Amino acid sequence: MKVGVIGCGGMGTTHYLSLKALSSQMDLEVVALADCREEFLNKAAAYFPGVRTYTYGMDLIENEELDIVHICLPSYLHVSHAVAAMDKGMNVFVEKPVCLTREDADKILEAEKRTGVKAMVGQVVRSFEEYKYLKKVYEEGTYGKLKSIVMQRISGDVKWGFEDWFHDERRSGSVVLDLHVHDLDFLRYMLGDPDDFDVKATAFDSGMINQIVTTYEFGKVFAVTEGIWDVSNALKFEAGFRACFDEATVVFRGAQTPTLKVYKKDGTVEVPELKAEYDVESDVAGINISNLGPYYTEIKYFVECVRDGKEIEIAPIREGVKSVEYAIREWEAAEAYVEKHK
Ligand SMILES: NC(=O)c1ccc[n+]([C@@H]2O[C@H](COP(=O)([O-])OP(=O)(O)OC[C@H]3O[C@@H](n4cnc5c(N)ncnc54)[C@H](O)[C@@H]3O)[C@@H](O)[C@H]2O)c1
Repeated sequence: MKVGVIGCGGMGTTHYLSLKALSSQMDLEVVALADCREEFLNKAAAYFPGVRTYTYGMDLIENEELDIVHICLPSYLHVSHAVAAMDKGMNVFVEKPVCLTREDADKILEAEKRTGVKAMVGQVVRSFEEYKYLKKVYEEGTYGKLKSIVMQRISGDVKWGFEDWFHDERRSGSVVLDLHVHDLDFLRYMLGDPDDFDVKATAFDSGMINQIVTTYEFGKVFAVTEGIWDVSNALKFEAGFRACFDEATVVFRGAQTPTLKVYKKDGTVEVPELKAEYDVESDVAGINISNLGPYYTEIKYFVECVRDGKEIEIAPIREGVKSVEYAIREWEAAEAYVEKHK
């Protein structure tokens, strides 16, 4: 299969390194790359001798006939490129958030239906071993009923983006669509759509939301999430959760070793054995991601679905769109909260 990567910045690097690793065991080759920043394009091209390179993503789409294209562009460029690629018959892997507006949501869903290509969104938390473990013990009732779940996604201020796009809410969707959407999407994946939610938020001096705390009700389970881009970029990234069941509490702390522990009612503590398909730490991407494992896992799944003509079940575009639609409602509530508390 011939694969292209559009956008070779932070997330694009994570994608092409995962594709490089996959190419040694599957019939897959990265044949085309695009990035409008020469240094990032050259850095990526060095991994793939003979690769064809383009400055702009649209030129790659116009000139290439590919089986798969990965869209790792700033979020406001996802839908235009995804639709153009779908129209050329390419199967598309789009980074999250799949889109930023309700209009774009309609456009990408319509293009997927019209073209019949396979498309997946990089809601990667669905492929994290610790979150998969949580979903499994919830579904199997291993520790009895789930009562509550508290999730955090804490990041320093995001400074690495091309033309500082993260700080322009029309281009990033603020911390709500960029960061918090991960936890919201995972909660929906595990518990279904929320019955109710309530939002509290703060904003940067610019007015853009930088912290959102949401309380949800999912039937009898309540959930609390916090997503923050701190005022300081020195704060280290950490994601975590604490899920309280009748018989045990499952705690994930991404920055600790081991990352996952189960605290049982009888006072014992267990460390579940997690088997990542690929366990490689790399800081080459220069962003707040070092473990390539979950990215490798989600990309491998997508490639297998394309190769075998299987339906995308883990993170289909319609699921990414639904999470964005909920996130937009929370973003509106966050703005209203900040306005009221000025
Ligand atoms: N799944 C995750 O865990 C995760 C983590 C970080 C970022 N992301 C998402 O990945 C996407 C990219 O984020 P990032 O951190 O890599 O941003 P980035 O700014 O580091 O990278 C974007 C790249 O796109 C290039 N670019 C911009 N316009 C272009 C065009 N028209 N044609 C070709 N290249 C172009 C830029 O030069 C840059 O290198 C965003 O949607 C972001 O939300 C996902």
